[in-house]
Amino acid sequence: MKLDHTEYKQRNIKIWNEIAPRYHKRWAGVNQGPFQSTSKLVDLVNVKKDDSILDLACGTGAVTKKILNRIGNSGRVIGADASVTAINIAKKWNGKKSNLDFINIDAEKFNFNHKFDIITCQYALFFFPNAQKALKNIRNSLKKTGTLGISVHGHKDKVPFFSSILDAITKFIPDYVPPGTPNLDRFGTKKSLYDEIKNAGFSKISIKDFTFSYSPGNFEEYWKNYLKYIAKPIKEKVDALDKSQRSELKQAVKQNTIPYTKRNEVIVFPWQVLILTAKY
Ligand SMILES: C[S@@+](CC[C@H](N)C(=O)[O-])C[C@H]1O[C@@H](n2cnc3c(N)ncnc32)[C@H](O)[C@@H]1O
Repeated sequence: MKLDHTEYKQRNIKIWNEIAPRYHKRWAGVNQGPFQSTSKLVDLVNVKKDDSILDLACGTGAVTKKILNRIGNSGRVIGADASVTAINIAKKWNGKKSNLDFINIDAEKFNFNHKFDIITCQYALFFFPNAQKALKNIRNSLKKTGTLGISVHGHKDKVPFFSSILDAITKFIPDYVPPGTPNLDRFGTKKSLYDEIKNAGFSKISIKDFTFSYSPGNFEEYWKNYLKYIAKPIKEKVDALDKSQRSELKQAVKQNTIPYTKRNEVIVFPWQVLILTAKY
C-alpha cells in the first residue's frame, strides 16, 4: 500500500520521536562527519547579534545551539520541529534562555505573524513530501532582506555511508523504504536543489559543496551500529530475514564498503553535503 503525504508524515514523525535520543547521541550532539556542516551553515548565513532566527526542523538542536553561541543574549531564536521528543532534547541541551523558544510545528503548515532575518533548515528538506509548501511558508516568514540557509546530504553515490547499506538492503527487502516515501536524495545535486529553491521564488541562490569524511570504525562496527541506531520498524524488517538471507545481505554490504576500507580494516567514507544560501 502506497503512503499518501499525510500517512508518510505521521509515520516519519513517529520514527523521529522514537530515534531522536539515539540520533542526538550519535550525530547531532557531536560535530563529526556530516555535522561539520553545522558551523559552516551558521557562517554562511552570516548570523549577527540582534538577528531574529528560525531554525526549522531543528531536531535536537544542533544548529540552534551554534546560532545561540553566536548571538548570545541578543536577538531571538526559535527552534521548530514536528517531533516533540526531539524538541524536548533540544530544550534540555540548550538550557533556558530568555531569547530562545522551541515550538512543535509541521514545516508544511506553519505561519508566523513575525518575520525573521534568517531561517535555517539542516538535513530536513528532503523529509517534506511537499517541499514547495514548506519553502513557501519559509519565504512568507522571512523579512524582504532575509536569508535562507539549507543543508542537505549529497546524492546517494556521494554518501556511501547510506548507499553501501541501502543499495544492498533494497534487494533483500524491496519494501524497506515504504512506497510513497519521498526520495531522500532528490535534492542531492546542485541542480535539483537550485531548481527547487528557485521555484519557490528565492533569489541570489548560492550552493557550496563540501566533502567531509566519516569513519564508522571497521566493518563489524559499521554494521552493528547501523542496526543499533536505525528506527524500530526498519530494524524489524532486517530482523525478519532468515539467517542465510541476513548473512548474504551482510556480505553484500561488506562488498560495497571495500572501496572505502583502509589497510588497517577501518572504513573511511567521504560524505558530501550541499549548503545553500538564498535571499528572499
Ligand atoms: C535529520 S533530522 C535534522 C535535525 C536538525 N536540523 C539537525 O541538523 O540535527 C530531521 C528532522 O526533521 C524533522 N521533520 C521531519 N518532517 C518534518 C516536518 N514535516 N515538519 C517539521 N519537522 C520535520 C524531524 O522530526 C527531525 O527532527
